[in-house]
Amino acid sequence: MSLTIPRAAEETSVRHPSLAAWVAGIADLTRPDRVVWCDGSAAEFDRLTHEMIDAGTLLRLNPDLRPYSFLARSDPSDVARVEQCTYICSVDADDAGPTNNWREPTAMRTTLAALFEGAMEGRTMYVVPFSMGPLGSPFSRLGVQLTDSPYVVANLRIMTRMGADVLALIDAGTEWVAAVHSVGAPLAAGEQDVAWPCNSTKYICHFPEDREIWSFGSAYGGNAILAKKSFALRIASVQARDEGWLAEHMLVMKVTNPAGRSIHVAAAFPSACGKTNFAMLTPSVPGWTVETIGDDIAWLRKGSDGRLRAINPEAGFFGVAPGTSPATNPNAIDTLWGNTIFTNVALRDDGDAWWEGLTDAPPAHLIDWQGHDWTPGSGALAAHPNSRFTVAAAQCPSISDEWEHPDGVVIDAIIFGGRRATNVPLVVEARDWDHGVFLGATISSEQTAAAEGTVGALRRDPFAMLPFCGYNMADHWAHWIAMGRSLRSSGRVPRVFRVNWFRKGADGSFLWPGFGDNVRVLEWIMDRVDGAVGSVPTPIGHLPLEADFNLAEMGLPPTAWGEMFATDRDAWAAEAADTERFFAQFGDRVPHELTQQLQHLARWES
Ligand code: GTP
Ligand code: SPV
Ligand code: MN
Repeated sequence: MSLTIPRAAEETSVRHPSLAAWVAGIADLTRPDRVVWCDGSAAEFDRLTHEMIDAGTLLRLNPDLRPYSFLARSDPSDVARVEQCTYICSVDADDAGPTNNWREPTAMRTTLAALFEGAMEGRTMYVVPFSMGPLGSPFSRLGVQLTDSPYVVANLRIMTRMGADVLALIDAGTEWVAAVHSVGAPLAAGEQDVAWPCNSTKYICHFPEDREIWSFGSAYGGNAILAKKSFALRIASVQARDEGWLAEHMLVMKVTNPAGRSIHVAAAFPSACGKTNFAMLTPSVPGWTVETIGDDIAWLRKGSDGRLRAINPEAGFFGVAPGTSPATNPNAIDTLWGNTIFTNVALRDDGDAWWEGLTDAPPAHLIDWQGHDWTPGSGALAAHPNSRFTVAAAQCPSISDEWEHPDGVVIDAIIFGGRRATNVPLVVEARDWDHGVFLGATISSEQTAAAEGTVGALRRDPFAMLPFCGYNMADHWAHWIAMGRSLRSSGRVPRVFRVNWFRKGADGSFLWPGFGDNVRVLEWIMDRVDGAVGSVPTPIGHLPLEADFNLAEMGLPPTAWGEMFATDRDAWAAEAADTERFFAQFGDRVPHELTQQLQHLARWES
C-alpha cells in the first residue's frame, strides 16, 4: 500500500514534525498496509488482544480462573534473547569494547536498510510513544517504538507508561529515543499469517551515538520489547555515561525491620538469578517487611541532596515463570491473578496457566508450550525454561508506595550477586566503594535460559551487564569509580556487598535455603549500614561473624555456616588469575583502582 496512511487528521496536525517525518520515512522503507498511532488506552489494548485472539497469536485463559489474561506461544526458534545477534554500532570499535559485538554503523545501516525494505508489507505498523520512568520525572526518558507486532505493543503497554501524554511531551520538545522493530515476516497479498511471525535472521542493533535502535526477526522479550534492555539499559547506559548517572540491571527494594527502621537496596544479579524473587521477598523472620520498587532495571543518579537515588524506569514485570510458586514467591503469584500475558507456559485443561514449580505435583494432562499434549510421563518440560509473565507492577501486593516517586529513593546499599556453586560466600561486604566496583566487575555466574547458549556454563557477567552495556565495559567500571568519587565529595556513599544464594555442598544441594530466608542477609546488611555489628576482614572483603547473623529457627546443619563462608586461598588465587586474564582483554582502559584491587587479592598470603 502507498504512503497515504489512513491516520486521523487531527493526529498528524499535533505531531511533533520530526517524529511525524521519521514515522513517514520508516513507513516508506517498510511499506506497512496501515500505520496506527497508539494512544495507550484500555480500549486500544482490548481491541489489539481481540485481534490477536482472532489471529491465533493469543489464547484467552479461563476468565473465572485468570481474568483478562492471555497465553502466547512463540515460534520454538524464538524463545530467548539472542546475544550473538545483538550489536553495538558505535563509530569507534573500542567504544563498544571486547565484550560486545561491534559493527561499523554505516555498514550496519546498509544491512538494515536491505532487511527492513518492505519488511512490514501486509502488516500494520504501530507507533508506540512511551516514557521510561514516571512521566515528567527528572530521571525519566522518552522513546518511540515502531513495530509490526501487536504482541509487542500489548507488552509495551504493560511494561512502560505508553500513549498520548508522551506525545504531548515530545511536542513540547523533549528528546526521545527512536526504536524500529519488525518481526521480519512480510505477507504477500492474500497470504495466511502464522500465530508467531518471526525470521531466522535476527539483528538487534544499537547506535549509541544516534540514540537509535533497530531490531529485526524476533518478537520475544528483550529482542523485541525495545523499551527494556535495548533502551533502558544499552542506550540509557550511554546517556548515563555522558550525563553522569547510571543505568543498571538492578532490582530496587525497601526493607523495614521490626523497629520500623528502613533502608533501600539496589541489587544486580544476572538474568534469571533471582532479582524478581528478591525484589518481592516475603521475609521468613517475623516483623520484617520488604517492599518492591523494581525487579529488573534501575536508573541511579546523585540527587540534589548528594545521595545516590534510584528509580525503576519500567511500569511492569517481564518475569521468569518456572520456579515461581506460593512457596518461593507468593507476591508474584498474587500479582498474576489477572491482566497478565503469559508467554510459553503450559495450558491446563481448565484453561488456566501452569509451569514447572508452580505446584508440587504436575497436573495429569496439559498442553505444553508448543501446543502439544503433555503428561507427567512425557519426559519434556511443559513450560519453556524462559517462559515469562508480563504484568503491571502496580498489581504487585508488595509494591512500595514510593515506587513512582519522581525523585526516586535514596540507596543505602548496593548488592552484586551471581549463581556460583563454589567459592563465593553467602555474603561479603566490600572494604569501600572502589572494592565494591571490583566485586561488581568480577561477577561470574552460571548461565541460565534467559539467553541462547549453554545453560550452566560459568561466564563473566560484570555488573550483570555483560549483554546490556551499550559501551566499553571497562569504561563502565571507570564511570562507577567516578560516581563513587562524586558521592564521597558531597554525601554518604552506599555500602556495597556481594551475595551468592547458590553455593552447593558436597552432596550437590544448595547450602542456603534462600528465598524468604534471604531477609537474614538483609538484616546483616542493615546492621552494617547502621554500624551495629562488626565483621571479619579477609582478602575477599568483610565477612559476617556467625554470632551477629540471625540463623534462628532455620534448623541449618552445624556445618552449613563453615561451608557457606569457606574461603579457600588456592581457589581465590585461581579466581585472581582468571580475573587478570579477563581484565587483560580491556587493555589500559581498566581503571587503575581495579588493577590495585586485583593486586590486593593476588598478593594474598595466608
Ligand atoms: P531476569 O528477569 O532474567 O533478569 O531475571 P531475574 O534475576 O529477575 O530472575 P528470577 O528472579 O526470575 O530468577 C528465577 C530463578 O532464580 C529461578 O530459577 C529461582 O528458583 C532462582 N532463585 C531465586 N531466588 C533464589 C534463592 O534464594 N535461592 C535459590 N537457590 N534459587 C533462587
Ligand atoms: C533478562 O534476560 O535479563 C530479562 C528478560 O530480564 S529480557 O527482557 O528478555 O531480556
Ligand atoms: Mn533482566
